[in-house]
Amino acid sequence: MPQLAVVGSQSAGKSSVLETIVGRDFLPRGSGIVTRRPLVLQLIHTPVSDPPKDFEEWGQFLHIDKRYTDFNEIRREIEQETFRVAGQNKGISKLPIHLRIYSPNVLDLTLVDLPGLTKIPVGDQPSDIERQIRSLVIDYISKPNCVILAVSAANVDLANSEALKLARSVDPQGRRTIGVLTKLDLMDAGTNALDILTGRVYPLKLGFIGVVNRSQADINNEKPLSEALDAEQEFFRNHAAYRNIAHKNGTRYLTKTLNQVLMNHIRDKLPDMKARLNTLMGQAQQELNSFGDSAIYGDKNQQGALVLRLMTQFARDFVASIEGTSVDIS
Ligand code: GDP
Ligand code: NA
Ligand code: MG
Repeated sequence: MPQLAVVGSQSAGKSSVLETIVGRDFLPRGSGIVTRRPLVLQLIHTPVSDPPKDFEEWGQFLHIDKRYTDFNEIRREIEQETFRVAGQNKGISKLPIHLRIYSPNVLDLTLVDLPGLTKIPVGDQPSDIERQIRSLVIDYISKPNCVILAVSAANVDLANSEALKLARSVDPQGRRTIGVLTKLDLMDAGTNALDILTGRVYPLKLGFIGVVNRSQADINNEKPLSEALDAEQEFFRNHAAYRNIAHKNGTRYLTKTLNQVLMNHIRDKLPDMKARLNTLMGQAQQELNSFGDSAIYGDKNQQGALVLRLMTQFARDFVASIEGTSVDIS
């Protein structure tokens, strides 16, 4: 199955973007170096129980035999595990933390959160920290089945984007790189990123998607994710420069695009499955069209659930076709 990894400079908003894709608050975020070990996050789709239980979503680490239903506790455990292996003082470690999230609202997918690219050693970091982080990131994004989310902040000139530079080194034609532009709300007054978002500045086959994540103040005030998503949508709709491209930006559109990209990626990687998947995708597309955006995203708990269910069914059909059995998840 394909993997999705985030790359970008420190504090560009990588962890924030991943978290909104998962739809839950559980990743440590903040200014400075926060993500100091790779976090390999395996999302596992589980059906909703009938009748529904209190806790339909839970997490489980590889290093502890315990079910976590409190996502704040998951965040604390990631922090403690980071300290345990990478030390108290800004050090990094190549040793990944493995976390599985079981939920009816996710698709079977592996996401990797990575430390940000930096230039200058701080704290206990070695003098070659830049090279070390680079090589760690390349270990993940050089795999051909890895879709790269290249995250750049809109308040820094794109010509300085470490994310795009590194993504280009492993994906020169920009076939499996999605550009994500964060912090559009923090751009200088009188400037905007319209040219970047419409692909006139830097060519990527999969394009650029602009997002507005929660600010540090929003995080400190525990602003709910759903409120942040609505505010983000309003931001694009009300912005003079972005009004006309509002429907092709924002986290919800990013999530939808990722589903599409991953579907295509699976299809392209499996030429002999192509015909079958094309049929399934046609059906899925029809089903999607008949529901429309509001039905899919209207109910926050069901966000993307339909797409996810269909995606998961594709994947399981594929596995079943190899194993000669059929698995029905509906
Ligand atoms: P990472 O180091 O790339 O993983 O970045 P984080 O996700 O930890 O974010 C770094 C800081 O930037 C946090 O304080 C976030 O709240 C803030 N941040 C991230 N994206 C945005 C955004 O789009 N707008 C604003 N205002 N703040 C953001
Ligand atoms: Na950070
Ligand atoms: Mg991070």
